[in-house]
Amino acid sequence: MKSVLITGASKGLGKALFDHYLAMGWIVFPLVRDASVAHDMKTKAPNGRCYPIVSDVCSSDVEDSVKRALAGAGKLDLLINNAGISGRSSGLENTSSTETQELFNVHVVGALRVTRAAVPFLMRSSEPTIVNISSRLASLTKSAAGEFAGKGYSYTYRIAKAAQNMLSVCLAEEFGPKGIAVFAIHPGQFVSESAASGATSSAAETAAEIESWVSAQRQVDGIQFSQPNVGVIPW
Ligand SMILES: NC(=O)c1ccc[n+]([C@@H]2O[C@H](COP(=O)([O-])OP(=O)(O)OC[C@H]3O[C@@H](n4cnc5c(N)ncnc54)[C@H](OP(=O)(O)O)[C@@H]3O)[C@@H](O)[C@H]2O)c1
Repeated sequence: MKSVLITGASKGLGKALFDHYLAMGWIVFPLVRDASVAHDMKTKAPNGRCYPIVSDVCSSDVEDSVKRALAGAGKLDLLINNAGISGRSSGLENTSSTETQELFNVHVVGALRVTRAAVPFLMRSSEPTIVNISSRLASLTKSAAGEFAGKGYSYTYRIAKAAQNMLSVCLAEEFGPKGIAVFAIHPGQFVSESAASGATSSAAETAAEIESWVSAQRQVDGIQFSQPNVGVIPW
């Protein structure tokens, strides 16, 4: 049976991915911060297919929690680094170092920690895959071309997602030759608590699109920044 670890699985896209992969018959490791949410997910899932990890990707013990949870299964097929938070401020004057560090911690350090803990288990899969949920707002090319100018998007979110894209590139460079496919994905704009205005899809539709697109890919040489079923996004 295939298995997936999804961070930030309590709501939004993470919860939709959890529901989708569970419905597809996968074993799912949802990483959530709230123990009661974890209990609820496990209770509602079919027996033996949901193993919640109660942790915060910003905590120093997240790696141990992930390793402990995966040790029982022995291998992992897919890791989805989805946990994320929005920036709250706009413009240089309002951008605090605290918020910058907070966003960097979740989107970059958090993803790095969870990935480091998961890699030994991914290496035991026949088709190991890492999906990092990025954002079109990470695109240096689009930003430099002025596509987002004057729209009030936060520095912190864009900086953190751009850095997360570099993490994806580094991972592809190191682990592509060892057989792990790595994808940096802009999921599109979907309705959630932290979505910007202009969302066009539901989280459930987006999750289904990601799952079908990822399952059709097997790229381990190099990496592209993509929006599933839409196309490649310039870095
Ligand atoms: N919505 C969009 O249109 C859109 C567009 C582009 C990219 N994205 C990206 O898609 C991903 C999901 O976004 P969403 O809209 O579904 O957001 P959301 O509804 O706000 O959900 C975010 C999830 O991340 C979890 N999370 C946040 N900080 C965490 C931490 N330190 N440790 C563990 N979990 C943490 C939250 O858990 P709690 O319940 O505990 O807070 C929640 O489960 C994010 O990476 C986001 O940047 C979204």
